[in-house]
Amino acid sequence: MMMKKFYLMIIFLSFSFSSSALKRPPPLPILPLPSASQLSWQFGNMALFLHFGTNTFTDTEWGTGHVDPSIFNPTNLDPHQWVQVAKDAGFSRVILTAKHHDGFCLWPSDYTDYSVKSSPWKNGTGDIVAELAAAAREAGLGLGLYLSPWDRHEACYGKTLEYNEYYIAQMTELLTRYGDIKEVWLDGAKGEGEKDMEYFFESWFSLIHQLQPGAVIFSDGGPDTRWVGDEAGIAASTCWSLFNSSSALIGNTDYEYSSGGDPYGHNWVPAECDVSIRPGWFWHATELPKSAITLLDLYYKSVGRNCLLLLNVPPNSSGLISDEDVQALQEFTKLRQAIFSSNIAKNGVLTASSTRGGTTDTRYAPSSVLEENIHSYWAPEENQNEWMIYLNLAESTLFNMLQVQEPIHMGQRIIKFHLDILTGEGDWKTVTSGTTVGYQRLLRFLTVKSKVLRFVIDKSRADPLISYLGIYLDTFSITTTESNRSSHSYFSGSEVIQLKGYNQSHRASI
Ligand SMILES: *[C@@H]1O[C@H](CO)[C@@H](O)[C@H](O)[C@H]1NC(C)=O
Ligand SMILES: *[C@@H]1O[C@H](CO)[C@@H](O)[C@H](O)[C@H]1NC(C)=O
Ligand SMILES: *[C@@H]1O[C@H](CO)[C@@H](O)[C@H](O)[C@H]1NC(C)=O
Ligand SMILES: *[C@@H]1O[C@H](CO)[C@@H](O)[C@H](O)[C@H]1NC(C)=O
Ligand SMILES: *[C@@H]1O[C@H](CO)[C@@H](O)[C@H](O)[C@H]1NC(C)=O
Repeated sequence: MMMKKFYLMIIFLSFSFSSSALKRPPPLPILPLPSASQLSWQFGNMALFLHFGTNTFTDTEWGTGHVDPSIFNPTNLDPHQWVQVAKDAGFSRVILTAKHHDGFCLWPSDYTDYSVKSSPWKNGTGDIVAELAAAAREAGLGLGLYLSPWDRHEACYGKTLEYNEYYIAQMTELLTRYGDIKEVWLDGAKGEGEKDMEYFFESWFSLIHQLQPGAVIFSDGGPDTRWVGDEAGIAASTCWSLFNSSSALIGNTDYEYSSGGDPYGHNWVPAECDVSIRPGWFWHATELPKSAITLLDLYYKSVGRNCLLLLNVPPNSSGLISDEDVQALQEFTKLRQAIFSSNIAKNGVLTASSTRGGTTDTRYAPSSVLEENIHSYWAPEENQNEWMIYLNLAESTLFNMLQVQEPIHMGQRIIKFHLDILTGEGDWKTVTSGTTVGYQRLLRFLTVKSKVLRFVIDKSRADPLISYLGIYLDTFSITTTESNRSSHSYFSGSEVIQLKGYNQSHRASI
């Protein structure tokens, strides 16, 4: 009896194993790796920053902290409009200045009277954080909050113990009253000659993670996402998500290190690029928003360089996002839609220098790079001396932009790459090259026409993996001729110097 059972089991096992080839396990991830909240942050590509508060009514950027709360009286405040504008333009989250440096709170805090409860707005019964949280939840957008460490109103500011207690109490209100919070945004800004005191960042960070495990914390040095080092919305053209948090001091940024990251970094701390659609962070009647083309350029230099674009669009004194800003965002959206609507690579046949598991295992096939899903990717066979993906188009086609993505849940790997086209003479000609890919790399180049292309990975930390490859024609960006490529890449060349020389007092205006 026993014998028979055993025998049947063998038949069963051998049947189930021999009918199909065993699967090859995926390649090993390479450390450091992103957390789940960092991945969802990165997949969002863009967040909308909302600077709103007493400054909106006093035409200033930095409130003194002594403005009468009666000034705060938006007549038509509607966070549903803010959220709708954000959603229509493809933003994944909204981040509100719940408290800016002036100390005025947009929610009725139990720890101060300097808040909406002392304002005429809704007779002091309103709560802007609550209204925004409800609107964002309804629209399916994530909510982030900025609680300024620097507080020019609160009397205990400057007394380390008391102020840290006050700050943590307010942070706790924000993280326990309004549902899921996706991001907590902190800066190290402190005015010149301000009272010297210590911020207990480690306690704050631990508390935030404890109360909102799904939230990423932004600061100059992470822990979850780092400041890119400028307020221009521009990342370095080499941009690692790898970073050493211990090398970063909040409020004392090494701009070059922050903008480029660290190929040897042992922490995963991708960069966030903050910039305002207007010259100021708060709304001023005399200022105008940037054009859609400028926003597109910023998109290429932030989202297209492995970062998240945090674009500030300040509500006006009526409590609404102004028409001019809405229009600029609508045009920006149309440009992106037009450019990214058709991936030319989808009209072609993809092959590769090698494929993990050979042809019997389609999971790592080069065609995986056309699927818009980070979990489907091309992987080469191990121990190769070249890594290439070839694209044969049905016909010769015009294009001038490359999109590449790495499956970053497996780590950031690629150090150097280039794109070649096959010329009429049968030679390979390089049309663009770059360093680092990460979640997403977008590269514009002189418009070329070709039928056969190859994407070549020159250097990588481990076997390179590609999750997406796109070839596009961007007819909107101003592209210069080949001989003027250096002037086209003006920013990449001068960036580091520019960042180093960045005016520190300007930085503090956030
Ligand atoms: C505010 O209070 C005043 C006087 O108590 C009342 O007349 C008015 O209707 C209230 N306004 C709102 C928006 O509740
Ligand atoms: C970051 O840490 C790694 C590993 O400890 C180290 O090799 C590297 O030099 C560090 N980078 C900097 C800039 O200190
Ligand atoms: C604020 O923006 C709205 C459009 O959303 C506009 O109707 C209103 O006039 C603006 N308010 C000010 C003070 O400009
Ligand atoms: C490249 O730029 C320089 C200086 O801006 C200009 O003089 C030159 O004509 C340009 N070359 C081409 C081919 O457009
Ligand atoms: C930095 O900006 C401040 C305020 O705009 C200005 O007063 C100062 O001169 C600037 N410093 C430099 C070095 O440009």
